[in-house]
Amino acid sequence: MKFTRRSFFRQTLVAGPAAMTFWTDMGNAWAQDQCTLAQPDAAEPFVPNEPKVQPRYSALEMKTRPELAKFRDAFCKIRALPSTDVIGWDKQIAQHCLHCSPPPGVGTTNIHYTWAFLPWHRGLLYFLERILRNLSQNDDFRLAYWDWENTHSRTLPAIYGVQSPNCLYWQKRQTTGSNWPLPSAKVDVSALLATPTFSAFGGSLNQGGATYSGPHANVHNAFAPGDMGNLMYSPRDPVFYAHHGNIDRLWSSWVKAGHSNVDFGDTKAYFYDENRKWRSILFNDLRDETKLGYRYSSYMGTAVPAPKLHTFTTTMNEGVRHVEAAAVAEIAKAKGPRFLIVEGISNLGDLPPDTLNFGIFAGHPAAGTQSGSDKRFLGQIATVNSEGHNHLGVTAAALNVTGKLPGLLKTNKGGLDLTIAPLDDSGKTTAAGIPIAAANVSIVE
Ligand code: C2O
Repeated sequence: MKFTRRSFFRQTLVAGPAAMTFWTDMGNAWAQDQCTLAQPDAAEPFVPNEPKVQPRYSALEMKTRPELAKFRDAFCKIRALPSTDVIGWDKQIAQHCLHCSPPPGVGTTNIHYTWAFLPWHRGLLYFLERILRNLSQNDDFRLAYWDWENTHSRTLPAIYGVQSPNCLYWQKRQTTGSNWPLPSAKVDVSALLATPTFSAFGGSLNQGGATYSGPHANVHNAFAPGDMGNLMYSPRDPVFYAHHGNIDRLWSSWVKAGHSNVDFGDTKAYFYDENRKWRSILFNDLRDETKLGYRYSSYMGTAVPAPKLHTFTTTMNEGVRHVEAAAVAEIAKAKGPRFLIVEGISNLGDLPPDTLNFGIFAGHPAAGTQSGSDKRFLGQIATVNSEGHNHLGVTAAALNVTGKLPGLLKTNKGGLDLTIAPLDDSGKTTAAGIPIAAANVSIVE
């Protein structure tokens, strides 16, 4: 039996004027439970076989649903379990923590920078859902999702915000200020829904997907310096599960748009089930949510269905990405949206170490450039702090460049000189752009 123990002596690190905010930790013993979990060597395989498919509602819908009281109460029940209980609230947090930045020798991997990101979090939510169903003796219990891509859902959903008595409430949160309401550009899912391959969308064996570095990271960061703004602590906040509900719904919506899931082979995830049994589940068995007994009350719509999308690849020529002249003409003619997909971005670590937001430019912005008003700005990706430090890996980007691209391609004769620059919270570059190191760049329209 592997038994892992980590301690948290570090306070949430806070920068800038917010350094005045200081939260005391609830004690090391308590915090340790949140990254300590017995992981038995043998796991009993779990093959999903759900008798009925029930909807997961949005948090906004849930507010007026008859099941709201039961929904809240299920969270009260799990939060009341002892911190040592392998299915208790602290162990849900530990389960995630162990896969967040695993200490050497623990034998788990970081699920945020590989293709595990989507199936693993789906598994976490699914087993939590089963546990809550069992604790509340209610087979119809389903989790909720926070549809932040909708303009009417850009603030913390009300059911999570009422202080007392409310088991959906969490105190360590920043839900006002310059990140709120969530700006449209930071929760735009259109480029993700048009991303043609699973490796760019959800990740591969050696890169994180654009889903991680897009709205997923932006929504986490909006809560900083609260727990949601730190990957390691984020599952302490009940709204984490509604945020990941929407990431999960984004994956389902991507499939519904006509894209194909990858074959994960025999890769598995491990969780405790509602009977406190250690189970293994194939990633392949996590690809279809209806097999897991739920569907979403609504899915995200796409402007262009996947089979109608065209992909133009670029080739590198003297440091600049080029599309063929014929493609430039095609891209200029197209009436619909245009997206830039960048895969295998590997040099984020060359920018200042505290950077969370990375602007992607077609050209070389100087320090102090306001990205929002710069024609060369194509969009941004982000990462999330984890236990006070920056959480980086090879990643991908999916950017909506509809209004920008044809013009840029025309002025630059089909070339895109792509750079990456650190952005502060207001979108200003804090250092000059450096050439982006990326494996593939393509344009989708
Ligand atoms: Cu495992 Cu949104 O994080």
